[in-house]
Amino acid sequence: MDSIIYLDHAATSWPKPPEVMEAMKLAMDEAGANPGRGSHRMAVNASRVLFNTRRALAQLFAVHNPNDIVLTSNTTEALNLAIKGYLNEGDHVIATMIEHNSVRRPLEYLKRTKGIRVDYISVDTEGEVNLKEVERAFNQNTRLVVCSHSSNLLGSILPIKEIGELAARYGAVLLVDAAQSAGMIPIDVVEMNIGMLAFPGHKGLLGPQGTGGLYIAPDIELKPLMHGGTGSQSNALEQPNIRPDRYEAGTPNTIGYAGLQAGVNKVLEWTPEKIYHHEWELAQQMMEGLSSIRGITILGPDLGKPRTGLVSFIAEEKDASELAFILDRKYGIAVRAGYHCTPLAHMAAGTENTGAVRASVGLWTTKKDIDSIVHAIAEIQS
Ligand code: ALA
Repeated sequence: MDSIIYLDHAATSWPKPPEVMEAMKLAMDEAGANPGRGSHRMAVNASRVLFNTRRALAQLFAVHNPNDIVLTSNTTEALNLAIKGYLNEGDHVIATMIEHNSVRRPLEYLKRTKGIRVDYISVDTEGEVNLKEVERAFNQNTRLVVCSHSSNLLGSILPIKEIGELAARYGAVLLVDAAQSAGMIPIDVVEMNIGMLAFPGHKGLLGPQGTGGLYIAPDIELKPLMHGGTGSQSNALEQPNIRPDRYEAGTPNTIGYAGLQAGVNKVLEWTPEKIYHHEWELAQQMMEGLSSIRGITILGPDLGKPRTGLVSFIAEEKDASELAFILDRKYGIAVRAGYHCTPLAHMAAGTENTGAVRASVGLWTTKKDIDSIVHAIAEIQS
């Protein structure tokens, strides 16, 4: 795919570093057996792939024990494991209006089936929360705070450390949805008081689709989402109590995790700090360019403020999907448009009836790519 300007990294980063593809090919050749289920050398190689992936992730997120990281197929699975595995009847949960449906739907499901109670803390039009409002929402039944690190629509970044301090003070666990931050914003689970961290492998961590994970602090016990073979304690009727086996049943995506390991190693080499800076500068360039075009309204934090590398906008008198279609067909520019699986964030931004176009940058995005989208939008609007 040569002639594409790819600005949809917030959905899936592309292309992947060559090391990711090489690692996957090598794993297919040399680690293509079942990890944890045999003692032959290919099975041992496969187990090693999984362990080294956990180790790289542990280094990135400052996790002490790599076995506290459960490998999943995506962030959604990780969030479902965390939310359904942790909450019980009558529990109270604090979430925010920027949550993605992968948080909201499991919460609403538990509301219907288990009678949990949920408060969604409002965000302003830029997607920022008021910490006082978060604090006011705690009550004696609050067991969980679920919070997106960064909005997938607005690009705003939430004060996770401060929210983690509040959660700790009121005896609740903080679950962070790092779908839009892992690999792109520094994360330290201890310093930020994060009890559980759900993350994708295929976005900022540069791995393939079908990979992700959940960090679970050592003192947190979850009900497993899945029951089945783990290769350990085979005679027991219960899922083993040991981590990560307890939460990983069935043959895993070893090849995918080999790719994820290589992706995480690239992130460790470049560092999330530098990646954030690169993406922030490009986002600022895009905002400056778009703000001078008639009829364009940019969503999220103002110019100069912290934000991730995504810029969502609406165009007066032009449907978001139509705009994205023209960008693709006429200019070869790939963006995401419409509704972004986050209805409450659309409400906060006032785009519940229009949807929005979202252009998101990645490691390989250049200033020239940004000039191209700005030029294309200016031409379409003229
Ligand atoms: N949740 C992903 C996005 O925001 C897919 O596009």
